[in-house]
Amino acid sequence: MIWENNRIFKLDTPNTSYIFRITPQGQAEHIFYGKRLPSADVDALCMKNNITLGGTVDYTSNYCLDSTLLEYSGIGKGDYRHTPLECRLPDGSFTTDFVYESYEILDKAYENDCGLPFAKGKGQTLRLVFADKKYKDLHLILNYTVFFNCDVIVRNAELHNGTDGQVTIRKFLSAMVDLPEADYSLLTLNGSWAKEAHIQDAPIGYGIHVNDSTVGASSNRHNPAFLIKRIGADERQGEVIGCNLLYSGNHYSAVEKTSQDTLRIAWGINPHCFDWVLQPGEAFVTPQAVMSFSEGGINGFAANMHDFVNAHIIPQRWQRVERPVVLNNWEATFFDFNKQKILTMAKQAAQLGVEMFVLDDGWFGSRNSDRAGLGDWVTNTKKLPGGMGALAKAINEMGLRFGLWFEPECVNPDSDLYRAHPDWAIAIPGRDPSLGRNQLTLDLTRGEVRDYIVDAVDKILCSANIEYVKWDYNRHISDTFGSTLSNQGEFFHRYILGLYEVLRRIFAEKHPHILLESCSSGGNRFDLGMLCFSPQIWTSDDTDARERLDIQRGMYCFYPPSSISCHVSMCPHQQTLRNTPLGARFQVAAFGVLGYELDFGELTPEERRQIKDQILFYKEHRRTFQYGRFSRYFPKPNSRESWQMAGEGKILAAIYNLTYHAIPARDTLRFLAAQSGKRYSVATMEQKQRIGRFGGLIKHVLPVKLKADGAVVRFADRHFAMTDGKECYECSGEALQSGIQLAMQYSGTGYSPDLRISGDWGSTLYVAEEL
Ligand code: GLA
Repeated sequence: MIWENNRIFKLDTPNTSYIFRITPQGQAEHIFYGKRLPSADVDALCMKNNITLGGTVDYTSNYCLDSTLLEYSGIGKGDYRHTPLECRLPDGSFTTDFVYESYEILDKAYENDCGLPFAKGKGQTLRLVFADKKYKDLHLILNYTVFFNCDVIVRNAELHNGTDGQVTIRKFLSAMVDLPEADYSLLTLNGSWAKEAHIQDAPIGYGIHVNDSTVGASSNRHNPAFLIKRIGADERQGEVIGCNLLYSGNHYSAVEKTSQDTLRIAWGINPHCFDWVLQPGEAFVTPQAVMSFSEGGINGFAANMHDFVNAHIIPQRWQRVERPVVLNNWEATFFDFNKQKILTMAKQAAQLGVEMFVLDDGWFGSRNSDRAGLGDWVTNTKKLPGGMGALAKAINEMGLRFGLWFEPECVNPDSDLYRAHPDWAIAIPGRDPSLGRNQLTLDLTRGEVRDYIVDAVDKILCSANIEYVKWDYNRHISDTFGSTLSNQGEFFHRYILGLYEVLRRIFAEKHPHILLESCSSGGNRFDLGMLCFSPQIWTSDDTDARERLDIQRGMYCFYPPSSISCHVSMCPHQQTLRNTPLGARFQVAAFGVLGYELDFGELTPEERRQIKDQILFYKEHRRTFQYGRFSRYFPKPNSRESWQMAGEGKILAAIYNLTYHAIPARDTLRFLAAQSGKRYSVATMEQKQRIGRFGGLIKHVLPVKLKADGAVVRFADRHFAMTDGKECYECSGEALQSGIQLAMQYSGTGYSPDLRISGDWGSTLYVAEEL
């Protein structure tokens, strides 16, 4: 609920309050953000500024902006902390001085037709209007939409140029928050290709700490999401304020600890290479900045974000819809496939319970490697005689749905598209453009390029029964230049607006029944902007189960499992050469949207049996895996991690070995979402261990002496497996909360079916069901 009383504003959600007031001087002064308060006790809560300090500049007598907590700031009137707004005014100066004019409360979520996606659904919006003191027709508008059901506030800002001169925006961030204390750490998601979303959590020292992207996309280097954690807060408890941005392009967030130990946070579009000219009568709208507070540590905050994404970000049609189990052919074949191969793979997939076959890169033009053909969206009938329609039909007849890969934003110089329209690729006149993965980016700021993409993709989508699209984007932007733009400072933002237009036209307007999975070399564009169009995102090209713990752990802080696409692939693993048990590969991938990315034909009959059981298990618990309440913790720092999903009357709790040591420590597992007063049955997910895993040790447990690499053991390894960790209990919710003792792990002294044989990177998954 949003309240106003005497120019005091209070934005309440079930568990949080956000309070500010308009000062007599006309600024919006931030008062409080935190646990829900019954009343806006502003006199008690506001920061006291009894005297002005030496070395400061007065705004009015005894009132200094530099030591006032503000809702938004500018330049040139004494606030020297980092500013969210920098613009050149008609008189050439950079000083802005916005003072309060009016407010309005609307009983709906914020809307604007500027081309950006916005959070949708039931909400309430406060709109505050400020006018510059000199240019009275230059208006700054601050919008706050409150989404009550998930304790989330979404903000953005608008600048309206009602003057008769030109205003050039050089920096315009979506939101700013000033907090009275600074004892926080800053948690960000950092990485690169195949190493996305690794958590860094570092205490915030004095100065400005920046988390940003300049690659043209939200990037795998630094995800736009970040959170600040009270020192002492952890996964399960403590105050956390987390932020994110509904934007897929260059982003920027800065956290500044000031000399007075206050904290300023501001985030939005990156000012890097950005300027935007506002002619008289024009306006600029920033993307939405998301924020949420929780006292429940990272898990509490993540719960708010997961609910927010599931209810207000992904397209309504896909909300709470169970996502299919896919087989994607990429890691199995790369570019080397033909129709027969694909149909054989699909047939095996159908037999194992897969629901959707996704044909990845290589089906079009002369695309037999990543050096040619990108941009030519015409089915290669040499590889796929009969065309896409016939392939989709044959796959559908096996009982599978069919999905297809595209990468429409890029082009190989060796392609018909480039030969016909070299000027459609981004390049600066007089400079040779640099290639990334042998390709150039198309200039999505141009209308005819967007039309080409919409038409070319639409033609294929209409030619076959395609129910899923993987939309990829495999390079960073360089040589930035829009050949039809008069101001190159607008390029990056206009590119993203162009992308949103294309996605809207193809998927929201023409093919809303298609499930879109976006991808950018894995998670190079994993953000709320893309999630407004694609309910799920390919998280990383690295599917190694141990690596995925690091990657998915980061993603879960901000994004729900239903949006995180996870595949089981072959071992030794492509990126790491690591051998992880098949059971663990599944038990990591199951905490998201499950798929497989391997050739079932290359597996042993025993492995195929196990995969069939895995898929059955996943389908049985899919609603909980995709839409349950996620939580995680480290039962033993550095050596055990647990991920859990609760919902539909059950808790799915996995415990992973990060590293394994001889005489392993005993394991206690707490079921974080167990409910007091209830009784549960607890059982392990049935899982097997390869006989071959025991190598030469096998001879010690068998009555006959067999050679570890002999034909008999190899045969046994292909057709049989050993039972791993069978446990079964009945207990109270209270017992689950305080932690049950798990079976011992293998310690070199013998085998029993009750023993957990996890080893390095192994895992066990428990299902606790309410009785
Ligand atoms: C990117 C994607 C992969 C695959 C290839 C195809 O790397 O992340 O999943 O689709 O492109 O070229």
